[in-house]
Amino acid sequence: MKILVTGGAGYIGQFMVKRLIENGDEPVVLDSLEVGHREAVPQDVRFYEGNLLDKEFVKRVFAENPFDAVIHFAAYALAGESMEKPEKYFENNIQGGLNLLDVMKGKTSHFIFSSTCSIYGTPDKIPVTEEETKKPESVYGQSKLMFEKVLYWYDKIYNIKHVNLRYFNAAGAALDGLMGENHETETHIIPNAINAILQNKPFTLFGKDYPTPDGTCIRDYIHVLDLAEAHLQAFSYLKDKNTSDSFNLGSGKGYSNLEVLEMVKKVSGKSLEIEYKDRRFGDPPKIFADNSKAKEVLGFDPKNSDLETVVSSAYKWHSRT
Ligand SMILES: NC(=O)c1ccc[n+]([C@@H]2O[C@H](COP(=O)([O-])OP(=O)(O)OC[C@H]3O[C@@H](n4cnc5c(N)ncnc54)[C@H](O)[C@@H]3O)[C@@H](O)[C@H]2O)c1
Repeated sequence: MKILVTGGAGYIGQFMVKRLIENGDEPVVLDSLEVGHREAVPQDVRFYEGNLLDKEFVKRVFAENPFDAVIHFAAYALAGESMEKPEKYFENNIQGGLNLLDVMKGKTSHFIFSSTCSIYGTPDKIPVTEEETKKPESVYGQSKLMFEKVLYWYDKIYNIKHVNLRYFNAAGAALDGLMGENHETETHIIPNAINAILQNKPFTLFGKDYPTPDGTCIRDYIHVLDLAEAHLQAFSYLKDKNTSDSFNLGSGKGYSNLEVLEMVKKVSGKSLEIEYKDRRFGDPPKIFADNSKAKEVLGFDPKNSDLETVVSSAYKWHSRT
C-alpha cells in the first residue's frame, strides 16, 4: 500500500515510516522540517519538503502519487505555546488538515488522525473512555477536537473514512536506542529529566500540590513503537470495516511525575536534583486511558509501554555518543 505520512520526519512519524517499510508498505513523507529532521527519514523513502498550508504543493504531491491512505501527524503540538499563540495552532492544525482533506477528496478515502487525550481536559471519570466529555483546556487540545469534527463532516459528505487515534503521552525510543525524540523545544518530562541527568543540571518540576498521592501529576505513557503498531491496526480496520471511529491509545496505567523521575534515576544509576515550580496552566492532575476499546476492536497491545522499557529506551537514545 502507498501511504502518505504527513509529519513523517517528526518524533512519532519516523517510527511510523519505519514500521510501514517493515510491513511491506510504501510510505511517502510530507514534512516542512520546521520541527522534524530530514535524517530521521531513510534516504530511499520519497520525501516532499513543504508545508500543508501551501495547497498547490499538496495538490502536486497527490498529482504525483496515488495514495491508498493518509496518516496525518503534521501539526504543532506544544500545549503551552498554543496558549500564547492561538492563531498559530488554529491555522496549522485546522487549515493545514483542511487543505489535505480537500485535495484528497475523491482520490483517497482512508485517513488516520493523530488526536490527543488533551481533547478531554480534566476528565470527570478515570480511566478515560472515548465517551468522556470533551472539554479541552488548551488551544492545542481544542484545535485537535475541532479537526475531529471536520473529519466527521468529511465522512458524511465526501465519504472519507477516518480513525481518530487519541494518544496519551507518547514516549520512549527504539529499543536499540538508534531512533528517538529530537525536539529543539522539549516539554516532555522523560527527555527533559534524562537531559538534566546527562548535563548534571537540576530538573524543573511544575506543581507538587495536586490532589494525587504524592502531589504531582499523573500521566499515561505510551511507547512510540506501540503507537506505530496501532496505526497499522487502524489501517486494517479501515480496510475491513470502511467505517470511522475513535480510539484511546494509552498504556492504561498512570504514573506520577515523581514515579517517572524515580525510574529515570534507576535506569541511569544517577541522582537528580529537582527544582519545584508552580503548577502550569491547563495541566490536569490525573489522566490515564481506558484502552479496552482499542484492545478489543483493533487488537491494540501496548507491550512496550511499561515504564521501565519506556524510560530505558529513551535513556539509550539520549545518552548515545
Ligand atoms: N508526542 C505526543 O506525546 C503526542 C500526544 C498526543 C498527540 N500527538 C500528536 O501526534 C502528532 C505527532 O507528534 P510528534 O510528537 O511526533 O510531533 P513532532 O513535532 O515531532 O512532529 C510533527 C511533524 O510535523 C511537521 N509539520 C508540522 N506542521 C506542518 C505543516 N503545516 N506542514 C508540513 N509539516 C508540518 C513538523 O516539521 C514535524 O516533523 C502531532 O499531531 C501531535 O499533536 C503527540
